[in-house]
This record gives sequence, structure tokens and C-alpha cells, in this order.
Amino acid sequence: MADCILEQLKSQPAWLLVFLSLGFLSILKFSLSILKWVYVNFLRPGKNLKNYGSWALITGPTDGIGKAFAFQLARKGLNLVLVGRNPDKLKDVSESIKSKYGSTQIKNVVVDFSGDLDDGVSRIKEVIQGLDVGVLINNVGVSYPYARFLHEVDDKLLSDLIKVNVEGTTKVTQAVLPGMVKRKKGAIVNIGSGAAIVIPSDPLYSVYAATKAYVDQFSRCLYVEYKKSGIDVQCQVPLYVATKMASIRRSSFFVPSTDGYARAALRWIGYEPRCTPYWPHSLLWALASSLPESVIDAWRLKFCLGIRKRGQLKDSRKKE
Ligand SMILES: NC(=O)c1ccc[n+]([C@@H]2O[C@H](COP(=O)([O-])OP(=O)(O)OC[C@H]3O[C@@H](n4cnc5c(N)ncnc54)[C@H](OP(=O)(O)O)[C@@H]3O)[C@@H](O)[C@H]2O)c1
Repeated sequence: MADCILEQLKSQPAWLLVFLSLGFLSILKFSLSILKWVYVNFLRPGKNLKNYGSWALITGPTDGIGKAFAFQLARKGLNLVLVGRNPDKLKDVSESIKSKYGSTQIKNVVVDFSGDLDDGVSRIKEVIQGLDVGVLINNVGVSYPYARFLHEVDDKLLSDLIKVNVEGTTKVTQAVLPGMVKRKKGAIVNIGSGAAIVIPSDPLYSVYAATKAYVDQFSRCLYVEYKKSGIDVQCQVPLYVATKMASIRRSSFFVPSTDGYARAALRWIGYEPRCTPYWPHSLLWALASSLPESVIDAWRLKFCLGIRKRGQLKDSRKKE
């Protein structure tokens, strides 16, 4: 049988053989990528995060994705340094984590990332002195209250976006890294966004998307910079997650709850430098990559103009 196929092939013209080989290689490549996708999403075990160190530091842990990360990391047996702006909310979150996972040690640090950042970062440094912080989740982030053109973005919003998303992420990382370098181990997770990486543009959210593009490139450079020091840097790229920032209350197949996202997210820590941990998001990413960019640009612009219109309407009702 094999001889027969070989004879048949030998009698074919060279161009057809090249064509068939290319087709075979493409099918092989596609099949391997599907197998890899199944493995990393459903079969690959998560790393033992306690091997990085016994403490995790999370920014923005009082709501949304950050809060879910705090609960999940406590569930995995890590002690927590929670960095948030609201002392009452920090106290509430720590108490509910302690009531669920009694043995978790928790230290709260009050930092308003849009306020005096240097002062806040020096307080973080003081608190983590002597703690083996092995996991850092740079989650804190702000977006627009609703979509708007760049000339409609006021100075305060512009400054908050850059201070919280860019400066905050950079300075907290700088504060935590020396300990990790000394211990030769650590995992840093920076929360990026599909707005900068999955879709070609995010019109009417330009500054937000651009800050997340910074987070993406910052993460990739650090991944290479610190790989040999035993530190795994990763940019996680969520698409929509049901939080107050996304103005989505209920989860669905393509929009996970914060808990659903954080459970998936923990399993990816320490692996690829860039990932989208919630598997239905990776289907949307594949779809976006297969469409012409102009089609996505046009759809996104229409979608964001709709958000702007509804936001303006709400604002004008509030004023009445
Ligand atoms: N939700 C999504 O669909 C989505 C998609 C892609 C990426 N992301 C990214 O995921 C991360 C978390 O977003 P989220 O949806 O969970 O947001 P969220 O529900 O609005 O929670 C944001 C967290 O950050 C804190 N925070 C905001 N401004 C702060 C400041 N100036 N100083 C200190 N803390 C501050 C909030 O504190 P308070 O509790 O005091 O408000 C809260 O704990 C962000 O980086 C976001 O860009 C989200």
C-alpha cells in the first residue's frame, strides 16, 4: 500500500508535490495548535504558587477581578498584601477572606494610585520588607466612565489613566522586584486588556487602550529581562469580565464572573508571557485575528459610539 502511494507520488509533477507538501504541513501545524490549545486550557496543571514565596501582593483588591484574585490566592494558601485606596473596603475584604480561609495572614496598605504615588509606594516597600512576596498581581486599573472622543477627555481623567494604569503598575513592580531578584524567584502578573491586544483599535477609549499597550510591552520586556533571574513575568489579556468597570453585572459564556476569571487566571501564572486565561475569550481572540482589521475597526467604532450616546443621555438625566 505504502509502496503504491510512493510510486503514485513519484509519477506526479514537481509543482503538485510541492503543493501537497505545503498543504500537509499546514494541516499538521493547525492540528498541533489545536492540540496545544486543548492541553493548555484544560489539561495543564497550574503551578504551585507557594513555590514562588509565601506572600502575594495584589493591587486593586477591593472590587472586581482583583478581589477575586485575593480570594483565589488565599484559597491556594498564600498570605496577602492588599493594596487599595479605601480603608473600609480593604478591611471588609480582609475580614471576609479571613472568615473563609482562617490561616491567611493579611496586611493592608492604603494607596490611592491617582494621589501621591511615591508616598504610597514607599509605604508598600516598608510593609513588604522581610516578607517573601513571590507573586505580584498588578491589577489596579481605571477606564473611562463611558466612551468619548479624545478632545472630550478631561485633564483629571487623562492624568488618572496614566498615573494608575502606567505609573502605578511600573512603580509597584519596581518596589517588589528587588526581593524577587534576591530570592531568585517570583511571578508577576500584569493585567492588560483585549482593548490593546486583541482588537486592532479601541476608538473612543484611546488613552485606556494605549495604557494597556504599555502594560503589554512592559511585561514582554520584563519577561525577557528577568527570565534568567527565575522571575516569570506575564501579561494577562482579559476580554470582557462582569465588573463595575465593564458596566456588566451578569456573567455569560463569553463574559466570565470575576471568580470564573480568577480561577482560570491562577492556572496560567508562570507559563506564557502573554495569555488570555478564560478559554471562551481565546475563541473570540481567534475570531478577531481571522477578520479583516477594517471590519473590526468599523464594528468597534459603531459599538463605542452607542456607549457614548447612552452615557451622555444618563449624564444629562442626572443634571436635570
Ligand atoms: N472588567 C473587564 O472587562 C476588564 C477587561 C480587560 C481588562 N480589565 C482590567 O482588569 C483590571 C481590573 O478591572 P476590574 O474590571 O476588576 O475593575 P473594577 O471592578 O473597577 O475594580 C478596580 C479595582 O481597582 C481599584 N482602584 C481604582 N482606582 C484606584 C486608585 N486610584 N487607587 C487605588 N485603587 C484603585 C478599585 O478600588 P475601589 O474598590 O475603591 O473602587 C478596585 O479595587 C484593570 O486593570 C482593568 O483595566 C478589565
